Amino acid sequence: MVEAQTEDYIFHRVLKQKWQQIERGEGVYLFDTEGNRYIDACAGVHVVSIGHGVKEIADAMHEQASQVCFTYSRFLTQPQIDLAQKIDNLAPDGLSKVFFVSGGSEATEAAMKMARKYHLETGNPKKYKVISRWQSWHGNTIGALSMSGRTPWREDYIPYLLDFPHIPAPYCYRCPYGKEYPDCHLTCAEELERVIHQEGSEYISAFIAEPILGTSAAAVAPPPDYYPIIREICDRHNIVMIVDEVVTGFGRTGVNFAIEHWDVVPDIMTTGKGLSSGYTPIAATIAHEKIYDAIYNKSNAFVHGHTYGGNPLSCAVALAVQNYIEKHDLVSQCAQMGDLMLEKLAPLQELPIVAEVRGKGLLIGVEFVADKEKRTPFDPSKGVTSMAVDLAFESGVLVMPGAPGLVDGVAGDHIAISPPFTVTESEVLEIVDVLTDTIAELSNRLGY
Ligand SMILES: Cc1ncc(COP(=O)(O)O)c(C=O)c1O
Repeated sequence: MVEAQTEDYIFHRVLKQKWQQIERGEGVYLFDTEGNRYIDACAGVHVVSIGHGVKEIADAMHEQASQVCFTYSRFLTQPQIDLAQKIDNLAPDGLSKVFFVSGGSEATEAAMKMARKYHLETGNPKKYKVISRWQSWHGNTIGALSMSGRTPWREDYIPYLLDFPHIPAPYCYRCPYGKEYPDCHLTCAEELERVIHQEGSEYISAFIAEPILGTSAAAVAPPPDYYPIIREICDRHNIVMIVDEVVTGFGRTGVNFAIEHWDVVPDIMTTGKGLSSGYTPIAATIAHEKIYDAIYNKSNAFVHGHTYGGNPLSCAVALAVQNYIEKHDLVSQCAQMGDLMLEKLAPLQELPIVAEVRGKGLLIGVEFVADKEKRTPFDPSKGVTSMAVDLAFESGVLVMPGAPGLVDGVAGDHIAISPPFTVTESEVLEIVDVLTDTIAELSNRLGY
């Protein structure tokens, strides 16, 4: 009888021939059990903002674990209070009520329910639908997946999904209306208004969007007037504006929260990943005072929550991470290193297979095309995204595969580069060198 390998007891997310096992991390580097070193140029999945193996965080974890790790939600703990206050200091004005959960999907689900509760408490019980965008990602739980616009990840679960409307993403390189900014007059934002009328504004509870797209269309950012128009439409129809900052929050785009690039204040923000830099599972839904006050005007409960939400260990760890970011001025470093990386990667756009190099801060995307003139994507069966990621991996650099389907739900290849904010100038140049060679080699292999 063949003995099972220890890893055979894992219910894998995908099957593959060989799994590399990571043993430890230090700064931007990860080391596997075979002695290989990788530059983590995607910070896990846009998570590890302060880099791996930071001792201060391990110390904070140890200190809190020695006190208390878990309490039932009838109690408060000091780390929870302190972290909520820290988040309030970082978030745009008015977004001061922090609801703790354990991951990004829980954060977006909570936002969906908060919006619903707000309308119930303010005399609009018919409002329940959430409008979102195609080429978007809000998580894998059913509410979050219903709001998400990623065709291949929705497909298996369509029978479970809620009937929520989607509008096109503001994706200028592939404008769904065949227009060009600014002559387009932001038709993609106006589409929100059209869909609200079509569905009936009395049924629409919220609109949710990632301010800058994360993994569905790497680092696509809309023009300057997009979110102000969205804000105005939401206000006019009494629709809660939710921005999903799970990827972009806590500094990733060179400011605390990406929506600040548009100078717009949403009603609810969802966050995750960078809150704890991956040192512990924690996420948060941050509500504007007006939402919170309306909910608690007459009612005395928001009937929602998860066992681990706000546990003191995760809160203490996330607080230590946010203090570390502040102490080392890492949001500024992220902005500076992001500018440098974007400048150095920009020449890749001269290659026939590179459509765009784009991004803000350390959230950078590279999109590939088969025909640059016509902007035709590669046939998905070629697996261009995987080829790019694998080639970089062979040279010791980890980049993030963009989700399939950024063009039309099926085709479209792209990768994201999002190293820790602690990345140094020489590490940026090393990543750029490897990616320049990788993409040149990809181009050769594809016959260009
Ligand atoms: C923008 C965005 N929102 C929500 C989520 C879901 O987060 P999680 O995987 O932690 O549930 C993700 C995950 O990648 C994300 O990118």
